[in-house]
Amino acid sequence: MKLLPPEASVWAGDHDAVFLGVLLVTAFFFLLVAIPMSIALIRGRRARPEPAPSARTQRRFEIAWTALPIIVGLALFAWGADRYLALGRPPADATEIMVVGKRWMWRFYHPHGRAEINDLHVPAGRPVRLVMTSDDVIHSLYLPAFRNKQDVLPGRYTSMWFEATTPGDYLLLCSEYCGTEHADMMGRLIVMPPDDYDRWARRANGEPTTAEQGALLYAKHGCATCHAAGAAVAAPTLEGIWQRPVTLEDGRTVIADEDYLRRSLLTPAADVVAGHAPLMPSYQGRLAEDDIIALIAWIRAQRAPEVSPPPDEGITADATDAGVMP
Ligand code: CUA
Repeated sequence: MKLLPPEASVWAGDHDAVFLGVLLVTAFFFLLVAIPMSIALIRGRRARPEPAPSARTQRRFEIAWTALPIIVGLALFAWGADRYLALGRPPADATEIMVVGKRWMWRFYHPHGRAEINDLHVPAGRPVRLVMTSDDVIHSLYLPAFRNKQDVLPGRYTSMWFEATTPGDYLLLCSEYCGTEHADMMGRLIVMPPDDYDRWARRANGEPTTAEQGALLYAKHGCATCHAAGAAVAAPTLEGIWQRPVTLEDGRTVIADEDYLRRSLLTPAADVVAGHAPLMPSYQGRLAEDDIIALIAWIRAQRAPEVSPPPDEGITADATDAGVMP
């Protein structure tokens, strides 16, 4: 098997620029010291001893070799830190794909409902954010062509993002030893032209979308008994809560993101919504990771009821996740 396809050597933009910059600067200073030193070693053996340079000359050298590396070092730090921080800030319009690692395969859930195993299709020229968790042990998703790697942990979500520039097939690996078949836990990252990706991701297959699977689970587990509008037990409404701040009984405010919804399903007593009794049962052990992803997709799709200003009065729709969920 060919382990590293030629595409893996493509120039990965900013990351490689930082790496090359550090390499060139360190190589320059290494040669600046090593070459004169080598010459001095050879010539010094034959030459007559010279008088030592004056104290004034020595001081000038000392200031120079202290100040210059500080400036260069700080500049490299600022450059690297800027790129590193950018890794933690995905663009708001990124396509979000849910990822579940499991011994020994990767499962991917696309926003429009398609799911796949080990192969991951993504659009070129658009930011993609992966929201990842594990069904069992610690895995790590590694995309060598994009110089991107992130641990995938059971019991929480981690994320990483990238923007592929060139359509093609790239390698996708698990880079955390996770058992006997760890080495087989690999697949292809398939970067498609954006239009092709849209066609591919929407292909119906007659299968329910992730959000529709969530709706089935919502019905199966009887969530509506409490969460439906006008239910006898008034649980917090789920409509329009996605990415909104939620005030809790203990005074904290949290954003209703994947982690919050997940905690609310598995350890509901941890974040009781202000004004509500802690009546929600835990679904720990009753929901698989895929079920939780489906329920989150369903909750995302629940828009707040229209308080509708007339539609011609400008854009009022929430653009952050418009069109992400069907
Ligand atoms: Cu999963 Cu190694």
